[in-house]
Amino acid sequence: MKAINENTITDAVIEQLSGTPDPRLKQITEILVKHLHAFAREADLTPGEWIRGIGFLTAVGQKCTEFRQEFILLSDTLGFSALVNSLHDKRGADLEAATKSSLLGPFYRKDSPVMEAGATIVTKPTNGMETCVYGKVTDTKGRPIADASVEVWQPDEHGDYDLQKMDPSEMDLRGRFHSDAAGRYHLRTICPVGYKIPMDGPVGDMIRAQGRHGWRPSHIHFLISAPGYREAVTALYIEGDEHIDSDTVFGASDSLVVRVSRNDAASPIPGLPSIGYDFRLAPVAAGEGSGRVGADPSELARASQ
Ligand SMILES: [Fe+2]
Repeated sequence: MKAINENTITDAVIEQLSGTPDPRLKQITEILVKHLHAFAREADLTPGEWIRGIGFLTAVGQKCTEFRQEFILLSDTLGFSALVNSLHDKRGADLEAATKSSLLGPFYRKDSPVMEAGATIVTKPTNGMETCVYGKVTDTKGRPIADASVEVWQPDEHGDYDLQKMDPSEMDLRGRFHSDAAGRYHLRTICPVGYKIPMDGPVGDMIRAQGRHGWRPSHIHFLISAPGYREAVTALYIEGDEHIDSDTVFGASDSLVVRVSRNDAASPIPGLPSIGYDFRLAPVAAGEGSGRVGADPSELARASQ
């Protein structure tokens, strides 16, 4: 009989895991145990702190519903979702040249209405600033991809998505466009504003306890896809937002920041403020599927962003 103490417990647990038939599950759980134990040792965790942590995680689980995923919100606010996305971006062929991923968020819908180039995704009265969003969809060499699907969704001028303010049978500020033969897309929308993550649950309590503001900078979500290419799940972040360098869920990144231009000669809708951005898709790696980043809200309950 071996002594079980703070020095031997980690090896004892890993020994019990050694018969795990699935090699990836074995690898992940071994690493998890090592880091979890190292965390307790480094923090010199007390039983009181441990039970408080258990209580917090219990509350996170109890806050989850069909329409609210507090665990994803916890993952997002700890930077874990953004880290997993970054690891995904580095995996596969020619991905350094592809558009960086950002968080899919909870407000994506598969059934966005298909729209003609240049159509507006605004369906309700709004005081928002009308804006043209345009650009190209290309491969990582800059060659145009024709008939790529460009799905776009965003909050309104108050920071609310349609799913937050109206019945799901209605839609606003979302649509699906297709690139033309030269890879070009363009649409009309309004410039969104930033919003706070849901602060009425245990993650909100954590954010307040950490003295954080809870805001996300203004952004427009995109899901770009074309046969043979890895999906780009990303978002464009509006330059000048006061929270652009302190996004609570760490989705904003320098290569995804765009400027609203008042006099852009390249814009296909003259006279309208415009945002120009070209999306670069990486080829699908063998056996990879679409390479979707993040949970599909139809499969996982809605989360935070
Ligand atoms: Fe969002």
